[in-house]
Amino acid sequence: LQVLELKNVLLRAGDQLKVKGTILHDAERFQIDLGCDADDLALHFNPRFHDDSDGAVLVCNSKASGCWGDEQRELHNPLQRGADVKIILKLAGDMFEVELPDGQEVHFPNRDGMDIISYIRVTGDFKLTSLKIC
Ligand code: GAL
Repeated sequence: LQVLELKNVLLRAGDQLKVKGTILHDAERFQIDLGCDADDLALHFNPRFHDDSDGAVLVCNSKASGCWGDEQRELHNPLQRGADVKIILKLAGDMFEVELPDGQEVHFPNRDGMDIISYIRVTGDFKLTSLKIC
């Protein structure tokens, strides 16, 4: 299992994170997390390919002091196992906008008003090839 964890980064409203990689052929799930540490995430972006209730689904959530918030589920998951993908996460201040390869955008509110993202984690059934902050 590959885990990329970055601490002490500095992302603010207007910044974008470009994540490129390959979804594993037998992928169950992967995740891109933005927050201030592993217990405090403003955005947990979690594509699933075999969720028990929804099958292929895009799950978003936040975590505060180690506790998950309410899940937001997007039942259209355009991501394909085995595909090379570029996912762009935009920090829009009060929202996160996640742009998927087919142009679909998933929006998730910045629930706790986290102004600065200092922690990034990418893990799961995904082979990361590049990560760019712009
Ligand atoms: C849980 C899962 C976590 C996270 C969370 C999101 O069921 O174990 O990894 O994805 O859902 O709400």
